[in-house]
Amino acid sequence: MKIKDKEFQIFIDKKAIKKRIKEVAAVINEDYKGKTPLFLAILNGSFMFASDLMKQVRLDSEITFIKVSSYKATQSTGKIKELLGLQENIFKRDIIILEDIVDSGQTMTHITEALKTLGPSSIEIGTLLFKPEALVTDLHIKYIGFEIPNNFVVGFGLDYDGYGRNLKDIYRLKD
Ligand code: IMP
Ligand code: MG
Repeated sequence: MKIKDKEFQIFIDKKAIKKRIKEVAAVINEDYKGKTPLFLAILNGSFMFASDLMKQVRLDSEITFIKVSSYKATQSTGKIKELLGLQENIFKRDIIILEDIVDSGQTMTHITEALKTLGPSSIEIGTLLFKPEALVTDLHIKYIGFEIPNNFVVGFGLDYDGYGRNLKDIYRLKD
């Protein structure tokens, strides 16, 4: 499978993704019983994960979307923009951040630090994919879909230079 100049191969198929998201949602349903969490999905990458996860959430809950961007092509730029689009008052709320992938962890660390200043009761992170080998920050991630090796991936919301987000499965760069 080719996207722009690069060849990709299938890595995690849609069936496995759906199954795993269901499992993660079941844990969240249990952990937040009696609570009314606010899910904060990070655009653009998390839109498919957030959509499928929310369909399995059985809690009185809300979801909102914010935007940050730190990634250009296949390499982290290290530059992180501000949080955009947070309208909700998160004071005393239980926040669950939804992200497509945690790579170096810099984006997520930046987001959680910024959110902490707004006085939520709790903040946890849910990510579909996690690259433990790439992590450079001290980050606690409570909900992880898949731990993956340090390869570039696309599909199911994740992009290569803007392309590939529409793919139902997750692909990795062919070696
Ligand atoms: P971090 O700040 O290095 O953890 O980068 C996180 C962001 O980089 C994610 O929200 C993704 O948008 C992007 N990213 C990291 N790894 C990949 C990848 O393998 N494919 C596509 N995007 C990625
Ligand atoms: Mg992203």
